[in-house]
Amino acid sequence: MVKYVLTGATGGLGSQVLKYLLQLVPASDIAVSLHNPSGLSQEILSTGIEVRQGDFADPASLDRAFAGAEKLLIVSYPSIAHELRVQMHTNAIDAAKRCGVKHLYYTSLAFAGDSVAAVMQAHLDTERYLQASGLTYTILREGIYSESFPLYLGFFDPAGGAHEVRVPHSDGGVAWVSRPDLGEGTARIMASGAHANETLLLSGARARTLAQLAATVSALVGRTLALRVVPEDEYVRAHAGGPGPRGEEAFLRKWATTYRALARGELAVVDPLLQQILGRPLKPVEETVAEMLQASGAVMEQYAK
Ligand SMILES: NC(=O)c1ccc[n+]([C@@H]2O[C@H](COP(=O)([O-])OP(=O)(O)OC[C@H]3O[C@@H](n4cnc5c(N)ncnc54)[C@H](OP(=O)(O)O)[C@@H]3O)[C@@H](O)[C@H]2O)c1
Repeated sequence: MVKYVLTGATGGLGSQVLKYLLQLVPASDIAVSLHNPSGLSQEILSTGIEVRQGDFADPASLDRAFAGAEKLLIVSYPSIAHELRVQMHTNAIDAAKRCGVKHLYYTSLAFAGDSVAAVMQAHLDTERYLQASGLTYTILREGIYSESFPLYLGFFDPAGGAHEVRVPHSDGGVAWVSRPDLGEGTARIMASGAHANETLLLSGARARTLAQLAATVSALVGRTLALRVVPEDEYVRAHAGGPGPRGEEAFLRKWATTYRALARGELAVVDPLLQQILGRPLKPVEETVAEMLQASGAVMEQYAK
């Protein structure tokens, strides 16, 4: 009988949670609630997990998708549109209550509890809503993905030939962590049943500044990539008109607040918990960056939404 329901299982993080959860519990214990049910690979489908349709925008679909779940993973909705994002999450939390879910796990983000970063505000609103919901919960403040490094390094494009990276406000430490490590840690926390009504930080094992990361990238691409902190207006002008939503001024102004958070050390916090849970060293950011640069030039657009 289904005990675990996972949302976001076609995405970068959720697919890793599913992969590792399948190693920890029988496939017959797992159902996935998918926005687009045709998005699962044949390999995953062949495990026999149950596939349900669930759209955060459609509460009735969530009632069907979360039915019978003892443990439910809500992977945050991928958008930086604040109100829309919070609405999607509150829809999911309300549906979990109606369905009698016993333990809800929510993937929040690793910025501080009093963060100045725009991208963290919908998570903080969701955390508060969940804490007041009466549900048993675990809030997982997932660390900054190593895989998202181009977004932090001025939308770095390996094919672009640039010799500098312009960022607004400040450089600062980031405790980068790979999505496979986060996925395994999240799956292990869900399977253990521990950490009821706690907020956990799943960070990498050490913090690296953007300048340090730029030096790593320089060595890998064979040209010097200098990090320069510039006024916000210069940053916005430099990236306005770029591809997709990240070329829009409103997005760039919001994203610029991330660097104010860096100045406060919000992302430099290292918590040993994830490494303890996995019982092995975490994958260093340098390794992920090297793999990404070798694999493809088209590594960064996925996060500019
Ligand atoms: N920690 C970090 O450093 C970091 C970095 C970047 C982003 N994030 C955020 O962390 C979360 C997970 O990241 P990710 O890499 O797994 O993102 P992702 O690859 O974009 O996956 C997002 C998942 O959400 C699903 N989804 C989209 N619209 C939905 C809806 N209306 N109802 C239900 N599910 C919906 C997607 O399903 P479909 O494919 O079917 O649409 C997909 O499975 C996202 O909120 C993302 O924005 C975190």
